[in-house]
Amino acid sequence: MTTTGPADLTLIQVSDTHLVPSGQLIHGRVDTFALLEAAAARLADWAGPVAGILLTGDLANNGAPEAYRRLRGVIEPLAQRLGAAVVYAMGNHDERTAFRAELLDGATSPGGGILTGDSLTSNSLTGDSLTGSSPEDPCDQVHDIDGLRIIVLDSTTPGRHDGWLTDAQLAWLADRLDEPAPRGTLIVVHHPPLPSRLPTLHLLRLRAAERLAKVIDGTDVRMVLTGHAHHAGAGSLAGIPVWISPALAYHVDTLPPRGRHRGLPVGGFSRVDLVDGQVVVTAIPLDGSGLAAAGLDGARPAGAGQAAEVYNRDAQEMLDYVRSATPTTTPAE
Ligand SMILES: [Fe+2]
Ligand SMILES: [Fe+2]
Repeated sequence: MTTTGPADLTLIQVSDTHLVPSGQLIHGRVDTFALLEAAAARLADWAGPVAGILLTGDLANNGAPEAYRRLRGVIEPLAQRLGAAVVYAMGNHDERTAFRAELLDGATSPGGGILTGDSLTSNSLTGDSLTGSSPEDPCDQVHDIDGLRIIVLDSTTPGRHDGWLTDAQLAWLADRLDEPAPRGTLIVVHHPPLPSRLPTLHLLRLRAAERLAKVIDGTDVRMVLTGHAHHAGAGSLAGIPVWISPALAYHVDTLPPRGRHRGLPVGGFSRVDLVDGQVVVTAIPLDGSGLAAAGLDGARPAGAGQAAEVYNRDAQEMLDYVRSATPTTTPAE
């Protein structure tokens, strides 16, 4: 029988915070900043240790600089207290210029001449990071957390909500993976490289995921960590596990009433443990106090079939809208 020893290393993954400037709510009712504070309070209460905090995209709801400053104001004092590195990844609701300016201190590639890894807040960022040399380039990064390599891929395309990785990004990734890391590699990419039975999410997945599969197949990549779907889930790509973290902001109902598309007030995040040599991920729902802090106390699910909602829309109208906003061609075409 295998015994379970202490966790070798724990990372916390917080995805889809959808923060907005002070005084604003999303969907007219969710105070996402209060949810972030509630999650931070839970982590501060926990005995730890935490080696890293991974923020995996849609960190701001509309790319507002103030939203990124609010995020940093909560996460970085917490990380300092925990002794954890901080990793920021782009999502489709983020805006590269503001994201880079506010969360990466304006850094482009070390060769790009703006800032190098030494100047960044995260002590885990390596010199290999940040492909490109202009503020609009993808925010790809490499972090080293106690020998565990975290490679962040920016799967966004400005003006679009579906996911895509360019040939240049994939070539850069292949170069990084040529050299294995002491404890292996985790890929962080906002868009799940998986199909979905939810039609809107399927349209907005990472497109042409087989291109990524080809690059990570046979490498030291141990897991792919994603968000974007607003529900927890798992699958695999090239035989490598893929984790979809729950969203902090709200949950997209995966079993909605017929013909409906709806969001539910059930926030959550994930812990990623390297334990007994394996990578194990666990979803952590935010408890009632977090929802109360976000003004959602009375909106908690009341019982089977009676869940209160963040929104409830006609599924076909929603799909038509997403379809109209999503080009049928990939960004490469
Ligand atoms: Fe999101
Ligand atoms: Fe997203």
